[in-house]
Amino acid sequence: MEKKEQLYEGKAKKVFATENPDYVIVSYKDDATAFNGLKKGTISGKGVINNKMSNMMMQMLEKKGIPTHFVKEIDDRNTVVKKVQIVPLEVIIRNVAAGSFSKRYGVAEGTQFKAPTIEFSYKNDDLGDPLINDYHALALNLASEKEIETIKKMAFAVNSEMIAFFKKLNIDLIDFKLEFGRYKGQIVLADEISPDTCRFWEAGSWDTTKHVSLDKDRFRRDLGGVEDAYNEIFKRLMGD
Ligand code: TMP
Ligand code: ASP
Repeated sequence: MEKKEQLYEGKAKKVFATENPDYVIVSYKDDATAFNGLKKGTISGKGVINNKMSNMMMQMLEKKGIPTHFVKEIDDRNTVVKKVQIVPLEVIIRNVAAGSFSKRYGVAEGTQFKAPTIEFSYKNDDLGDPLINDYHALALNLASEKEIETIKKMAFAVNSEMIAFFKKLNIDLIDFKLEFGRYKGQIVLADEISPDTCRFWEAGSWDTTKHVSLDKDRFRRDLGGVEDAYNEIFKRLMGD
């Protein structure tokens, strides 16, 4: 399948049309941003890792019965995916307090939850992706009631599968962000699953005072060893 015209360029990916109107090609860049684009940088090799990791996760989830946009990996940075209409919600699942949750609710990072949480942000860069609830999403016509129910069920199912998957790699899945799309009347998991969109902490290495991050927090927080963290995750995914 060949790239035709560029349809869109985001912070970390480009999207190209293909000869098939149902499919697009996603092309992963090494560009990294944080804080709604205020912080900019490059994470060398990130595009390759995020492409391959995302594809691996999507295929693992498909096998577990979760529909995704994945079609076919073309090469290191390019993948054919279904052309979905993105639901403008960032769906965040958390297992352990960290990041904006810790800040907003005054809970130490590393505090274990009794049960996983879900939250929605309205995907809107001009507004800084504000936190919203189901009723806001319905009122703004971002998704139907049925779609929101499906998205919630799928997000928690993804969480269960991913917790188990990463446990085997000696990684604790702290939280992550998902995006969903509409494809031929069905809600499917879209976008990416990568160290850009998940918090991965070295298992057993943390409590509420310290942790070892193997994800984009190393970039967001200027912790150093950014490329090393992405490479480490990828190495474990590859089984060595
Ligand atoms: P947060 O604690 O900053 O709200 O982030 C929660 C999770 O969502 C974390 O794993 C990183 C991911 N995330 C994104 O993928 N994109 C974003 O724009 C933000 C803010 C977070
Ligand atoms: N990708 C997001 C941005 O640049 C934020 C993040 O991942 O922290 O705004």
